[in-house]
Amino acid sequence: MAILITGGCGYIGSHTCLELIRAGYDIAVLDNYCNSKPEVLGRIRELAGRDFPFFPCDIRDEKALRAVFDAVPVQAVIHFAGLKAVGESVRDPLAYYDNNVGGTVTLCRVMQQAGCRCIVFSSSATVYGKDNPSPLREEMPVGRVENPYGRTKYIIETLLQDLCASDPAWSAMLLRYFNPIGAHESGRIGEDPAGIPNNLMPYIAQVAVGRLEQLSVFGNDYNTPDGTGVRDYIHVTDLARGHVAALAYALRHTGAEAVNLGTGKGCSVLELVHTFERVNGIPVQYRIAPRRPGDVDVCYADPAKAARLFGWRAEKTLDDMCRDSWRWQSLNPQGYDA
Ligand code: NAD
Ligand code: UD1
Repeated sequence: MAILITGGCGYIGSHTCLELIRAGYDIAVLDNYCNSKPEVLGRIRELAGRDFPFFPCDIRDEKALRAVFDAVPVQAVIHFAGLKAVGESVRDPLAYYDNNVGGTVTLCRVMQQAGCRCIVFSSSATVYGKDNPSPLREEMPVGRVENPYGRTKYIIETLLQDLCASDPAWSAMLLRYFNPIGAHESGRIGEDPAGIPNNLMPYIAQVAVGRLEQLSVFGNDYNTPDGTGVRDYIHVTDLARGHVAALAYALRHTGAEAVNLGTGKGCSVLELVHTFERVNGIPVQYRIAPRRPGDVDVCYADPAKAARLFGWRAEKTLDDMCRDSWRWQSLNPQGYDA
């Protein structure tokens, strides 16, 4: 039996494929390449030293999805496939509801028909909204989300909880990621955003490598020690290992569980910039710019539940994250296009 990884060619999915293989799982991967490139598959295979089945498939295509489940006996699904750009979701909400919510409905229907009732889902800390204070805990109220992207995550969490309530055989892990950064330590796989990055670390790395001129620090008048926004940055390899631990738990338990995957430590924008400069010996040009609409001042996890439920804790440091992000960016200045 294999673990099916939807969106396995993406940033978090590619790192999770490797950690699953390392942990001894057989995997199968599907992706429609809407935000990734085929080159990543060769790199995962090279790092894993192993082949695995890949299906070029859109999760909204029920027939194609059924063919995947016919071809591979699937024990559980790790579901990364989704659109994730907040600004784009405001401009084109239908695309987000269609892909994220519609795609998940189709996926769950096909899983149900195939007798596979175990799913690990990529949710986000964004479901906590603006009103909850950090450290964020899983039992806090969720759903007062600011944008369509975040609402699709909240709706999918609710959908999976309803599914588990309807049939006690279902198992769903709702993993609320904080801010994944970094790359595999080899520098062979990493984050390769299309166009100008929306998120902080890829922006810093592209300034450092000379693709972009200058970072805009969005606001220095927040209620934080240095005035810049504080987030819980987590190394993508730690996050990937969190999936392996959550999967093992999901295979042994039923019902829906929401679990934070974060470090529990906050780091400001300027702290991240200065750590990147120190660790890599590279200057990063920046200027202070106005606040970005929709941003909160502070957001970090209480990671205790993941430790209690399945013994997972983030291990890598901010220095590791900055070093590995730079190794990936400097070895692949144009991402997978090189
Ligand atoms: P990513 O865009 O790199 O990976 C997503 C992958 O899914 C891509 O390879 C894309 O081509 C694929 N995909 C999208 N729609 C698809 C569809 N309909 N059918 C098949 N494949 C499809 O993003 P990521 O950073 O790896 O994030 C993975 C998941 O985690 C997403 O659901 C995202 O919303 C969620 N998440 C990410 C972050 C983050 O900071 N990166 C934070 C919280 C949650
Ligand atoms: C963003 C998304 C969130 C998503 C998360 C992970 C928004 C409003 N929120 O969160 O829904 O779950 O990414 O994908 O887009 N910053 C700068 N300059 C930049 C970029 C960012 O100063 O060029 C600052 C931001 O103001 C913030 C911090 O860096 O304080 C982190 O930003 P980012 O990486 O975009 O993540 P989030 O805002 O946490």
